[in-house]
This record gives sequence, C-alpha cells and structure tokens, in this order.
Amino acid sequence: MTDLSSLIRAIPDYPKPGIVFRDITTLLRDRDGLRDTIDALAGPYRGVAIDLVAGVEARGFILGGAVAHALGAGFVPIRKKGKLPHVVLAQEYALEYGVDAIEVHADAIGPGQRVLLVDDLIATGGTAEAALSLIQRSGGDCHAAAFVIDLEELGGSARLRKHDVAVHSLLSF
Ligand code: PRP
Ligand code: ADE
Repeated sequence: MTDLSSLIRAIPDYPKPGIVFRDITTLLRDRDGLRDTIDALAGPYRGVAIDLVAGVEARGFILGGAVAHALGAGFVPIRKKGKLPHVVLAQEYALEYGVDAIEVHADAIGPGQRVLLVDDLIATGGTAEAALSLIQRSGGDCHAAAFVIDLEELGGSARLRKHDVAVHSLLSF
C-alpha cells in the first residue's frame, strides 16, 4: 500500500494567509497512489448496495467518478451554483475560506436510493453538510461519506456524524 500522506503537498498561505492547502494533484498523478486511493475509498462499500456516488465539484468529481466505477454505481455531480442545465435543488454553505452554494439536478437521485458521498477533503464540514442536505431533500438515503483527508481539528467529520452519517477518511491532518 502506497504511503498516501507523502503524496499530498502542503501549500502554506493558499488561498489566504493562515490556510495550509492540502494539494491532492500530486497524489492524483501518481499511478499507485491514485489506484490505492480509489481502492481504499471504495473498499468499505464493496458488497454494500450503493446505487449512486455523489461527488462535489471539483475534486470530488475526480475521485467520485472512479469510486462509482469501482462499485458499479452511478455518479451524480453536485456542482457549484449556475452550472447544471436542468431544474436544480440548491443549498448555501460556508467554507473555511468563503461562502458558496451547491446544486444538484432535482431528478438525479430517486426516492430511497442509497447514496455514498465522496469528496477529497472535509474541513469545516459545510460543503459535506450542504451535499447531505441536497441528497436528503432529493429523497435519497445517504449511506455514508468518504474522504481522502479529514482536517479533524476543524470539526467537519464530527458535524457530519451528528446527522447519523458514517464518515470514513483515509488520512487525518
Ligand atoms: C474544498 C474541498 C471540499 C471543501 C471542504 O473544495 O474539495 O469540497 O473544500 O471544505 P469544508 O469542509 O470546509 O466545506 P473547494 O470549495 O475549495 O472547491 P474546489 O474543489 O472546486 O477547489
Ligand atoms: N478545502 C477546505 N480547506 C482546505 C484545505 N486546507 N486544503 C485543501 N482544500 C480545502
């Protein structure tokens, strides 16, 4: 198993002073690192009935699409506002460094469908909580959420667990 932590680059003061940005592009370009990351994210859910993987723009698309393929599930993009062409549900949220809104197609997730939420990183949990809200407002059942990185001190994974969602992360910083 590759040492995934050594493949993630820390960039101080990006995009704002005081933020240490965890850059996964160095992990994505490493063939062993990418394969082991997808295997580890999908592993706990093999043999579990997951209908859909929902991935959050942008980094959640790269990982979520590959995890969906590994699990034989479909993929649903959760996009930043104004990007999806059909009728959407929208949810605002606060980021570690800003405010934004994410959207999902209103017909993307069917009632009772079991959804795995995938993103590269959970920090404050604002994005994941907004994504969870979109999944639930669609009628979906968010079975679990999987991340490569948990910035544990920022409290996002604890925040998500309060909604009774199982949270699985490969690394904590
Ligand atoms: C990053 C990351 C998560 C989110 C986590 O995305 O990929 O989606 O922040 O932060 P939170 O737990 O505090 O909400 P970002 O919004 O920077 O977008 P990007 O993937 O398009 O760069
Ligand atoms: N998203 C929110 N906080 C982040 C961080 N510190 N590094 C990378 N992505 C992030």
